[in-house]
Amino acid sequence: MADHTIKTAEEHLLHTYNRFPVTFCRGEGVYLYDENGKQYLDFAAGIGVCALGYAHPEYTKALQGQVGQLLHTSNLYYNRQIANAAKRATDGAKLERVFFTNSGTEAIEGAIKAAKKYAYQRDGHTDHEIIAMKGSFHGRSLGALSVTGNLHYQEAFAPLLPGIRFADFNDLDSVTALVNEKTCAILLETIQGEGGIYPATKEFLQEVKAICEAKDILLLLDEIQCGMGRTGEMFAWQQYGIRPDIMASAKGLGAGVPVGAFFLTEKVAEQSLVPGDHGTTYGGNPFVGAAVDAVFTIFEKENVIGNVQKLTKSLEETLDSFIEKYDFVAARRGVGFMQGLVLSVPVGEVVKKALEEGLVVLSAGSDVLRFLPPLIIEEKHIGEMAEKLKRVFDTFASE
Ligand SMILES: Cc1ncc(COP(=O)(O)O)c(C=O)c1O
Repeated sequence: MADHTIKTAEEHLLHTYNRFPVTFCRGEGVYLYDENGKQYLDFAAGIGVCALGYAHPEYTKALQGQVGQLLHTSNLYYNRQIANAAKRATDGAKLERVFFTNSGTEAIEGAIKAAKKYAYQRDGHTDHEIIAMKGSFHGRSLGALSVTGNLHYQEAFAPLLPGIRFADFNDLDSVTALVNEKTCAILLETIQGEGGIYPATKEFLQEVKAICEAKDILLLLDEIQCGMGRTGEMFAWQQYGIRPDIMASAKGLGAGVPVGAFFLTEKVAEQSLVPGDHGTTYGGNPFVGAAVDAVFTIFEKENVIGNVQKLTKSLEETLDSFIEKYDFVAARRGVGFMQGLVLSVPVGEVVKKALEEGLVVLSAGSDVLRFLPPLIIEEKHIGEMAEKLKRVFDTFASE
């Protein structure tokens, strides 16, 4: 059956991914199962999406109920589900306004548009620049690609958005050097994910915020991967003593249902996008509204963020123990349940061997093994992950 699935997919899907030869068909809690019935411990969560693991009873019930009631109507009308979701999400984000999108990429697009419109309203022209970071990842659409600081993704698709400048992440001087009277926004991931798990330093983010405040430049934070409880706060920036003007979210926000969002302060909302400036057919429909509402309800009820806080030390210590044990494990970086081990053996091979061992992990950048477990893991799952990973690492140690 699994072979048939792979063959059919390879015959018909566009070849934009080099997939691992695994056909997941079911999930329960923090475990996935493939078409051959093999069980996998999941420390990837669908690239940071499945915050509540798989088939969470209350989440599943909320979605099932909504499917039978109303899936979609359009943004021409109100619906209770998205109104409730908006209330909960803005409370969690500590930002007053939200626009729901269908993906993280679209949240970035909206954030860029809001920043551009804010500057246009203020200055009466569109000759503005955005400072983004080298090594960043913000998505694959042409706007999001334009602010993604990685030539490898951009190369074939020029010309991209004009007026985008790239600074070195965590290097204040390189940001300062690019700030001029045209700068309308500074965009960064609070923790760079795809680039290799690099948390912004507190000093860097606070100084960038200070520059933004002094010059009426908007601070745009991409919390698509690092947000929604993953770091032990609802959003990672909440540990930095600053507040962004605009924030993009997705992934854990819907915990499996495709939904993203960009959040704005009231001030920016009032002075940027107005009716006619932005829209989406699907974004914020009753179905995703029910999902987002359920996610926030369950986060609160089950103290999901408390679980991340409680287990972070254990996860970090477990990962650190590999640095001592294997000389090809050079370092650990990360916050909460967003962690990376820097390896000097091929990461893709480690990920592949881990799958064979029944462990799902990810790569990031060129040399980082990335861990983004569901936020509901328990202590015993960290131990199980360590056992499996040890078996994988042992095969490299003896080579
Ligand atoms: C930090 C960050 N920004 C943006 C995106 C793009 O989000 P999506 O794939 O939902 O469009 C991703 C996806 O991995 C991401 O990690």
